[in-house]
Amino acid sequence: MIPVPVRATTAVRPAVAAGVGCSSPPTLHIAGPGVVGRALLRALAGQVDAGRVRILAVSDRSGTAFDPAGLDPLDVAAAKDAEPGLAASGAPFVDWDGATAAAEVPADIVVDLTNGPPPGHPPASPLLAALRAGKDVVTAEKTVLARHPGQVRDLLAATGARLRCGATVGGSVPVLDALTRGLRGAGVREILGAWSATTTFILSRIEAGVGFDQAVADARRAGYAEADVSVDLDGHDAAAKAAIVAQQAFGLDLTPADVVRKGVGAADIAQARQAGEMAHKLRVVARVTAEGAEVGPALLPDDHPLAVDGADAAVLIRTDLAGDHVLRGPGAGGDATAAAVLADILSLLDR
Ligand SMILES: NC(=O)c1ccc[n+]([C@@H]2O[C@H](COP(=O)([O-])OP(=O)(O)OC[C@H]3O[C@@H](n4cnc5c(N)ncnc54)[C@H](OP(=O)(O)O)[C@@H]3O)[C@@H](O)[C@H]2O)c1
Repeated sequence: MIPVPVRATTAVRPAVAAGVGCSSPPTLHIAGPGVVGRALLRALAGQVDAGRVRILAVSDRSGTAFDPAGLDPLDVAAAKDAEPGLAASGAPFVDWDGATAAAEVPADIVVDLTNGPPPGHPPASPLLAALRAGKDVVTAEKTVLARHPGQVRDLLAATGARLRCGATVGGSVPVLDALTRGLRGAGVREILGAWSATTTFILSRIEAGVGFDQAVADARRAGYAEADVSVDLDGHDAAAKAAIVAQQAFGLDLTPADVVRKGVGAADIAQARQAGEMAHKLRVVARVTAEGAEVGPALLPDDHPLAVDGADAAVLIRTDLAGDHVLRGPGAGGDATAAAVLADILSLLDR
């Protein structure tokens, strides 16, 4: 008998080796050695050792470790684990922030793993600085893409730079790949996503009988929650992802402000506590069509494809020609998100 896993997993995307044996491998600048950034540095060690890529620079909020000869990713990750600032890493250091370094460091690809500008602030982001300089970009940072689609599109058109953003929606679950590649010819009609993994984690803990404050503390300790969980519970995180999905799947110039949004309130938390007894789960669900997007809490039967637990994410894609597709898997966490970022880096190195 074939041992079938009880939990569904997402398809594995092939990692394409590039530049093997090349004397001058493509170069990277990584902005944001946080939870995802450090996981990426560790995941890149094998690629660096094989000579497929060289890491020229890593920037945090204190400045930039920059060595044209190449940084050792494991050393940088260990230094950031030990000390808050990169100056202590021992590597050559300049006081450029991520956006300045994205323009100044002569890297082929800029990887934006920063937190993004707060609402209302000018978007001085590594992503935008890199695109202005005509550099290719890989990003897990969703806010700039979600809020400034026109600016990003104009920069891509003007410079010919390439952008990969698979990690911005669904963590390791290849939602955008499915929409822009695999199912592009299938006539995508409707996308339903439980892709606010932090909210799912908190609601899952509450369903398990844990108090609200404890559930939030657990999410923070696991590295899933932002300092301000209202970004997740009010639906802002799900709405930003819905905007990116609407842009990518339907070419809409939708921003989070255009997404009809309802957050998780006290009554919903109370409902989540009782949902388990009714064989249901309360989850924040986004719905995206060619007409627009909406986000809000939904009570789902336990066996619904979007009724994920923990930090998993799930998406249900309805198409005209190829039926329904479900993707689900880890939607947050350093290693899982770094896997999606690395896949995007490898796809750029491949072409
Ligand atoms: N964690 C996840 O599961 C997950 C999943 C999908 C997408 N994402 C996205 O991925 C990005 C990184 O997430 P994370 O969890 O790794 O966040 P994090 O742990 O808070 O790390 C953010 C990093 O960005 C750095 N940073 C912030 N502003 C900067 C600037 N102006 N210049 C240079 N560096 C700057 C911070 O520097 P310091 O070290 O000096 O503070 C920190 O190293 C975020 O946009 C997040 O939304 C995360």
